[in-house]
Amino acid sequence: MAVLWTLALLSFGVSGSRLSDCSYYGLLKYLNLTAPSPVLQVMRPVHNWNHTTDVSLDMVMYGILDVDEKSQTVTSHVWIETHWTNEFLTWNPSDFCGIDKVTIPKSLVWNPDVDIDEDASDSGSLREDPLLILMSSGRMLTTKHQRLTSTCQLNLFLFPFDVQRCNITFSSSSYDTGSLKLGPARSSYVITTLSDVFMITQGAWNLKDVEVSLFDRSNGNISVSKLRYTVSLQRKPMLYVINLILPLFYLLILDLASFFISGSSGEKLGFKVTILLSISVLLLILNDILPSTEDTLPMIATYCVSVFTVVWLSVLEAILVGFLPQIDGFCCKEGQRSEDLQQEAVSHEEPGGVLENTEVKPGKVLPPDDLQEFLREILEEVRAAPQEAGRPEERSAQEGRFRRMAKMIDYVFGLVYFLVVVIFFLYFCIIWING
Ligand SMILES: *[C@@H]1O[C@H](CO)[C@@H](O)[C@H](O)[C@H]1NC(C)=O
Ligand SMILES: *[C@@H]1O[C@H](CO)[C@@H](O)[C@H](O)[C@H]1NC(C)=O
Ligand SMILES: *[C@@H]1O[C@H](CO)[C@@H](O)[C@H](O)[C@H]1NC(C)=O
Ligand SMILES: *[C@@H]1O[C@H](CO)[C@@H](O)[C@H](O)[C@H]1NC(C)=O
Repeated sequence: MAVLWTLALLSFGVSGSRLSDCSYYGLLKYLNLTAPSPVLQVMRPVHNWNHTTDVSLDMVMYGILDVDEKSQTVTSHVWIETHWTNEFLTWNPSDFCGIDKVTIPKSLVWNPDVDIDEDASDSGSLREDPLLILMSSGRMLTTKHQRLTSTCQLNLFLFPFDVQRCNITFSSSSYDTGSLKLGPARSSYVITTLSDVFMITQGAWNLKDVEVSLFDRSNGNISVSKLRYTVSLQRKPMLYVINLILPLFYLLILDLASFFISGSSGEKLGFKVTILLSISVLLLILNDILPSTEDTLPMIATYCVSVFTVVWLSVLEAILVGFLPQIDGFCCKEGQRSEDLQQEAVSHEEPGGVLENTEVKPGKVLPPDDLQEFLREILEEVRAAPQEAGRPEERSAQEGRFRRMAKMIDYVFGLVYFLVVVIFFLYFCIIWING
């Protein structure tokens, strides 16, 4: 009976111990994780020091918040998943009622110190999961969500039709390649697809693709493993086309059309100056967008300055064309006045020199000689008359020379202007579309 009792107790004890093995407590107790162990926290978890810890990383970009051209940074939401193996924390799931994974605090075990080289964000934006998942094989999985502000050398040459390629490089700051090796868990294609699926906000950008590359960077005698994600972001250009490029082009066309406004009126000049002012307002918008740190001038700045210069030249030309006929009027008035003076002198001479000497008295009949003289003078004057009548024609021809020159300049400039606008349009189309 006593033996039976003992057997019963034993079986109860065994089943009781089996029952307790089915709880996480049993597992954690088996893994010595019930209390913080400093060794587990600081030691790279390998049995042989020569073993490399392979750390697999996945980065999924699920939000593009801001691309700052002035500070050359990209702010995005990323989700980073890290896997590695802890060779000490393994168990056989069949010993623990099939438990094949357990969630434990990160702080209990060693974590790889993987950082992002381009990270420029404050640590407050990091949302790290305090827990990690431990598999029965010793595989560990941890995730973190980060509002990542990374530096990126933005190339704005083709703005707003630009594609930015930004690097996000992961590396360990204290382990070399022999101790810690980084690697991608998923391929570039899968990462791109995942990013597309999980994308919650893109703003003015499109995520084109994500490329993963792996390389070692030796720093003196120490070689460090690096994992680089190259993210290609494409700007959505429509807003800039509608706000900046098209209005500028329309203003240019308007300025071209102003050649058909009659040149004599001052309206033409006023119209052109108004166009010039409108362009400078648009230039102010551009100034807000583009950084001044750019080495190569962005295409759009060249575009704006070209439009401005062309319109400015056409204003100058309008001033010149308006001014030329004035010179004309001025010089010819001078000529007329001198002729008038001459005529006056002649007419003064005539009565004084000829008529006064003859002393023609009313009622008195002129002697035949005087009469002859008088008639000859009249004849000469009559003969001279056609010549004098011809002179105003000559004058008007002279007056028209500048006016005609102005017209010619206007015509040639208009033609050249038209050609320049066509070439300009083609040039920028080709560069922006092909670029
Ligand atoms: C837990 O600690 C005990 C005693 O220190 C040790 O014998 C055992 O191997 C450890 N278990 C594991 C999984 O490391
Ligand atoms: C550890 O690495 C060193 C040099 O890399 C090598 O000479 C040695 O044989 C390795 N030992 C083991 C146990 O792998
Ligand atoms: C990204 O890395 C590649 C390879 O080193 C480099 O050529 C490129 O300039 C980097 N891009 C940026 C934006 O820093
Ligand atoms: C690299 O290693 C060599 C020999 O091991 C040593 O002489 C040299 O000073 C090291 N250089 C650096 C930068 O640590």
